Amino acid sequence: MSQKLSIAIAGLGTVGVGLIELLHQERDLIRARAGVDITVTAVSARDKTRDRGIDVSGYQWFDDAATMAAAPGIDVVVELIGGHEGIAKDVVETAIKAGRHVVTANKALLAHHGTALAKLAEEHKANLAYEAAVAGGIPAIKGLREGLAANEVTEVFGILNGTCNYMLTEMAATGAPFDEILADAQALGYAEAEPSTDVDGYDAAHKLALLAAIAFARPVDFDAVHVDGIRHISPLDIHYADELGYKIKLLGQAKRHAGGVSQTVRPQLIPKSLPVANIDGVLNAVVMRGSFVDEVLLVGRGAGGGPTASAVAADLIDIARGIAPPIFGITTGHMQAESPANDTVPESKQAYYLRVSVKDEPGVFADIAATLRDHAISLETVVQRGHEPGQNVPVILTTHPSSETAMRSALATIDAMDTVLAPTQLLPIMPA
Ligand code: HSE
Repeated sequence: MSQKLSIAIAGLGTVGVGLIELLHQERDLIRARAGVDITVTAVSARDKTRDRGIDVSGYQWFDDAATMAAAPGIDVVVELIGGHEGIAKDVVETAIKAGRHVVTANKALLAHHGTALAKLAEEHKANLAYEAAVAGGIPAIKGLREGLAANEVTEVFGILNGTCNYMLTEMAATGAPFDEILADAQALGYAEAEPSTDVDGYDAAHKLALLAAIAFARPVDFDAVHVDGIRHISPLDIHYADELGYKIKLLGQAKRHAGGVSQTVRPQLIPKSLPVANIDGVLNAVVMRGSFVDEVLLVGRGAGGGPTASAVAADLIDIARGIAPPIFGITTGHMQAESPANDTVPESKQAYYLRVSVKDEPGVFADIAATLRDHAISLETVVQRGHEPGQNVPVILTTHPSSETAMRSALATIDAMDTVLAPTQLLPIMPA
């Protein structure tokens, strides 16, 4: 490599522009730390004429990012287009096959094709770096892959989606329902016009699949992630959780069990005494548990031009320094075979929160309690406020640790009762 690292940027959205600004502003510091200049040579985006607030006329322009990916004189291709098929995949594959290193922020691409792309990169001796793909500016990949490299990782979990964390925080602060907070979040630019990727949990699931692959030396297995979002969380749940000493957070969690590895994204009640319960607003948090390190908590901004550009630039500096760790912490040939698909939901016991919507009349609670008893589910707390004869009232229950299979079977019976007026809300409770 010459005295400069020549990069091509595919995609000039917030992160691409943020990266150009960062490389310009921190140029001297980066040269000193990386040992070379990191220089933008070429760029590609959909619309050459768009005003992005920066001057890109000094860079070679490509209408076609895949052509740029194989162009001469480029050391690293930075893929910031997004999406798991089409042009982004083309750009990354073309770059690797042409012997370029790749830095990407594209969690969807890696969640779907990570192992195949890592294998391709190994074959072509290319680096495929993706710090920006998980939790934006937080060094979650380096923290887990490099920092905990000497540990057997037992669990990694966290708040992996800032949009959901912001919305849950606002719902708790205002008591307003999901739809109202979503509209506000969209108006403020914290949620996309098409919010599904965030609020239905897929964005967090993409990130979790990458963390799980590193943590457990497995192929990336996005299809095995059990995904649930936050649309069904009501202000009532947040209110009762608070009263019982919990906060509701959308958690991505990958855990080793006797039977395999579970990967889940779902809202959970978290005891307020745990630090992760108090990570609010748009912040992300990643907790890692290892055999010797015990517990590590990383907190920071998971999105935005500055934090994401910071992570991309850190990967570029690694490449300039000649640092090339195995892409998922272990070479693809040494990854453990995938676990059976039925290990996606933990079989170990956990406590649950239930909100049952019942008709307020004698004997209703007794029927529910009897059903839980018949499934060997033990109750910890019961809350029912007010008295509205014949009307729909919420009964809030928390249980002692119980098996999810038993819980789902009990719920099938409970929800079929004439006196139960809506599907029961079921959320796991994280142990303190
Ligand atoms: N939309 C994501 C979030 C950031 O809200 O955290 C990019 O993955």
